[in-house]
Amino acid sequence: MTQSRVLNTVLHERLMSAEAAAALIPAGAHVGMSGFTGAGYPKAVPQALAARIAAENAAGREFRIGLWTGASTAPELDGALAKVNGVEMRLPYQSDPTSRKRINAGEMEYTDIHLSHVAQYVWFGFFGKLDVAVIEVAGILPDGRLIPSTSVGNNKTWLDQADKIILEVNHRQPAALEGMHDIYYGTERPPHRVPIPLTQVSDRIGEPWLRCDLSKVVAVVETGQGDRNSVFAEPDAVSRSIAGHLIEFLQQEVQRGRLTPALLPLQSGVGNIANAVLDGLNAGPFEGLTAYTEVLQDGMLAMLRSGKLSFASATALSLSPVAAAEFEAHIEFYRSRILLRPQEISNHPELIRRLGLIAMNAMIEADIYGNVNSTHIMGSSIMNGIGGSGDFARNAYLSIFMTPSTAKDGAISCIVPMVSHVDHTEHDVQIIVTEQGLADLRGLSPKERATLVIERCAHPDYRPALRDYVARARAGAPGLHTPHLLDEAFAWHTRYLRQGTMRTDAP
Ligand code: COA
Repeated sequence: MTQSRVLNTVLHERLMSAEAAAALIPAGAHVGMSGFTGAGYPKAVPQALAARIAAENAAGREFRIGLWTGASTAPELDGALAKVNGVEMRLPYQSDPTSRKRINAGEMEYTDIHLSHVAQYVWFGFFGKLDVAVIEVAGILPDGRLIPSTSVGNNKTWLDQADKIILEVNHRQPAALEGMHDIYYGTERPPHRVPIPLTQVSDRIGEPWLRCDLSKVVAVVETGQGDRNSVFAEPDAVSRSIAGHLIEFLQQEVQRGRLTPALLPLQSGVGNIANAVLDGLNAGPFEGLTAYTEVLQDGMLAMLRSGKLSFASATALSLSPVAAAEFEAHIEFYRSRILLRPQEISNHPELIRRLGLIAMNAMIEADIYGNVNSTHIMGSSIMNGIGGSGDFARNAYLSIFMTPSTAKDGAISCIVPMVSHVDHTEHDVQIIVTEQGLADLRGLSPKERATLVIERCAHPDYRPALRDYVARARAGAPGLHTPHLLDEAFAWHTRYLRQGTMRTDAP
């Protein structure tokens, strides 16, 4: 029999079933749950809550909650609650297909905010009161402190701010996670803020455990199911090519004396392309690298293992099943090389600016002037959310955005005259990379940028139409600083919506 990890006697007495715990969450509550990119989310209580919501709704009683998390979770949480239409308002980042459908159908409200802003907005009271926290932990110490799980996210804030706390103690999570976290308790509300004392990615500035007011804990539930780790696609020719352009660019920066061979701390976004870039860096010429990032995915684990990367700071692990098994098998090796922090610290603008990060994030589309859309399909449907991309892009030493030059088998150009939604303005975007090439936009005027983005990054099939747009805009726009034909700027998107392709030469 598995030994209980609930070592505090008071909390041991509050052990109950997931169903009993879920019954303590009232309709209409704001509920802060743990979870960040599919790691460290509660597994049992959300499913029990979904069953309760389904039963309440079937009996004609409306029951929905406001759901706040660190970032995306998994089908057992977002999926289960969305399926029963149990979420009235969701924040801050999610990638669940059922939730996405509900949001885009207008059935669920979604507030997509920078991940570094969430904790402080809750402290400021901008979202109202947090009623309940549901937090997965890897164990409870005899004195009641909590061993965090595979992500930290907003858990510190949820525990501090919620009126009631429900803990899921997951004995499937490695016990050796204890000691890999750094929970900083020095944040304040303005005007009482002080500098955050972190100057190196490996600096410890907090405690390995989460503090918890035991009097607020209304339920403790024991669970034993692992994170639902999803598989990354093997790097294909397109993502390898993007990685190649990026590595060549970084080598040039070293040759020019603007970076050393150890570069600067890396931030790598979510998704397959980001992971492929890490694969490329692992095989590349740089040594003694570090990472100050949001999620630690397979590529970074491989770089730690190979020694290319000496240290990684993040807020969550986001590993495939194979990489998760590797992590657990060699956890003593990783424990001295990884620190997991609250997301307000992993994504903090002060620290990103101080450390001088190289921020590498994927995007949906960019326009010829360098504005970037990370979140919306055809201007109105949400894909996932902005996540931490804005925290990093605005404050990094280098802000890099990557995408294949086309999507949907070439029917969509990811380089367009004007993006259909702006997440990162031209002022926050320095470098754009596609498999076609890399456009270094630093110091360029809008007109210079347009030429470079088209010639370096657009797919050859779309270059003539983009050149034609620019030429006509330069001839006909009322102003020549950022020339646009406003009647036509979104014609590429509307053509796709009407005809299923952005191509003008389609039959
Ligand atoms: N127009 C319409 N659809 C597009 C598109 C475009 N310009 N570009 C891509 N897509 C579609 C793809 O076809 C794919 O669709 P599918 O799911 O139906 O196959 C989907 O968008 C995802 O594209 P993919 O190339 O697989 O991208 P990805 O897995 O690398 O994810 C983002 C790309 C932008 C969606 C993802 O990185 C994201 O959500 N980013 C925002 C948050 C972020 O940057 N976080 C990191 C900060 S730490």
